[in-house]
Amino acid sequence: MTALIPLPAAMVSCQKNADKPNIITISWIGIICSEPPMLSISIRKNRFSHQIIKESGEFVVNMTTRKLAEATDICGATSGRDTDKFTLTGLTPAPSSRVKAPLIAECPINLECQTRTVLALGSHDMFVAEIVATHVDEEILDDQGKIDIEKLDPLVYCTKARQYWAGLTQLVGEYGYTSVGVKSRKKS
Ligand SMILES: Cc1cc2nc3c(=O)[nH]c(=O)nc-3n(C[C@H](O)[C@H](O)[C@H](O)COP(=O)(O)O)c2cc1C
Repeated sequence: MTALIPLPAAMVSCQKNADKPNIITISWIGIICSEPPMLSISIRKNRFSHQIIKESGEFVVNMTTRKLAEATDICGATSGRDTDKFTLTGLTPAPSSRVKAPLIAECPINLECQTRTVLALGSHDMFVAEIVATHVDEEILDDQGKIDIEKLDPLVYCTKARQYWAGLTQLVGEYGYTSVGVKSRKKS
């Protein structure tokens, strides 16, 4: 059972040629390599976005927040076959720097991706992609330039309960705060 909880609820924007851009909500997502920076998203073959991303070889992962919960749900409950999701949600497409697909201006973090490999796993195809550009809104940074989790206020998806949650407010520790084995864990 796929009970890995919570997962991000990302909005992935994509576009093929001069067609209208589309957005799909994705939770089957993860960082899979640091150098080069890479992530994977898994998409069912029948999604409209599957076809777009398969053909274009590009997409943008846009991180969601509590404020963007409604738009996130809409993009996961409607298909670009029948609707223009940018118009429906009021989200703003903005030019990306390295890929043709637009990024979503309202999302505080945008990861521009180029597909390197597609793995047919079963119900889903996994798009293994390199992150070729990253945008982080200054508004979510603290005074040392680090991402401030409370300012970000990320939205997560709890897969088996099928619920969206937000509210990460209690810092438990920082990486290596136990000082146990810190040296051997430094390069991750
Ligand atoms: C929170 C959430 C997470 C989702 N995660 C995935 C996913 O990882 N992979 C997938 O294929 N569909 C996922 N879906 C379903 C698609 O977002 C949904 O089928 C969408 O309508 C497809 O849009 P499209 O036809 O425009 O591509 C998710 C839906 C929601 C609401």
